[in-house]
Amino acid sequence: MILQLFDAPSSTYTYIVLDEASRDAALIDPVLGHASRDLAELARHGLRLRWILDTHVHADHETGANALKTATGATSAVGAACLSVGHDRALRDGDDLPLGIGAIHVMATPGHTPGSVSYRWGNNIFTGDALLIEGCGRTDFQDGSSDELYDSITGKLFALPDATIVWPGHDYRFRGSTTIGHEKRCNPRLAGKDRAAFRELMANLKLAPPKQIEQAVPANRHGGALQSGEAVPSMVMARDMAQEFDAAQDALVDLRDDDHVRADTLPHAQRADYQDVKRLIALARSHRRVFLICHTGRRSLIAADALIKTGIDNVWSVTGGMLALRDGGPAACEAHSHD
Ligand SMILES: [Fe+2]
Repeated sequence: MILQLFDAPSSTYTYIVLDEASRDAALIDPVLGHASRDLAELARHGLRLRWILDTHVHADHETGANALKTATGATSAVGAACLSVGHDRALRDGDDLPLGIGAIHVMATPGHTPGSVSYRWGNNIFTGDALLIEGCGRTDFQDGSSDELYDSITGKLFALPDATIVWPGHDYRFRGSTTIGHEKRCNPRLAGKDRAAFRELMANLKLAPPKQIEQAVPANRHGGALQSGEAVPSMVMARDMAQEFDAAQDALVDLRDDDHVRADTLPHAQRADYQDVKRLIALARSHRRVFLICHTGRRSLIAADALIKTGIDNVWSVTGGMLALRDGGPAACEAHSHD
């Protein structure tokens, strides 16, 4: 399953790819400043983040890779030719990144930038800025090459089955996805065009440089947040918390309302109002670690977010809340999800 998120200022799509059986997830192209939103989505669906994947070193926004890594402990990765010093892994064509019982397959698709990669997950391909909906990424900066992009799109992406769903890095008209078949037939930059025609078209786009390129490119080579880290709450999976919790030193704080507590009392937990920040700070100061738990994982994340912004760093939000702890699992994904 795939969740599609959007950053309006840069028209960037961020994706959560999830394996429903294991609840393991990958985030593709996170945007700095949206880490809290991304974590909330992970919590809402009871997901454990395994991978933070950038499709390339972006010029139009800063990646949220470091901020999310700090919160989740997931592994960050980007194409080797991006020459990033801030990501954990440098990816090469053909790499497989395990996710649940499957894997995300890495395809090198250079041209927009030399290090651009696409990620294939089953019948889906995340193309970053290589292939867009009825468009493609520009090739006039960051060592772009229209010849390489032509080869990547026509030789590699168009070799995928026509029914493959294409999830682009951007769309400036709020369209969500396309297919390989549609792009082969209808992409005005490629359909019916040979290499020479494509090269000429790309050389004459005459686009203004992205506004943030001077800051974004160097920051993204460090995984984002070069100057100031975004404070984001830490999350722990319910089953990990259950194993790690030590009643002698840690506090388990139940943020649920009376009805939920009456129905299912949690041993060793003390209760608190999720908006009572003063009380929660006092608990954090008097314990080694504080685990916040609520019914679904939403209140605990809100409370953890409030605490982290006061400088408290020993607080964890239990992902998926009591639903996950009792192994009922989270409710099925509903809003803006795509099977
Ligand atoms: Fe780009």
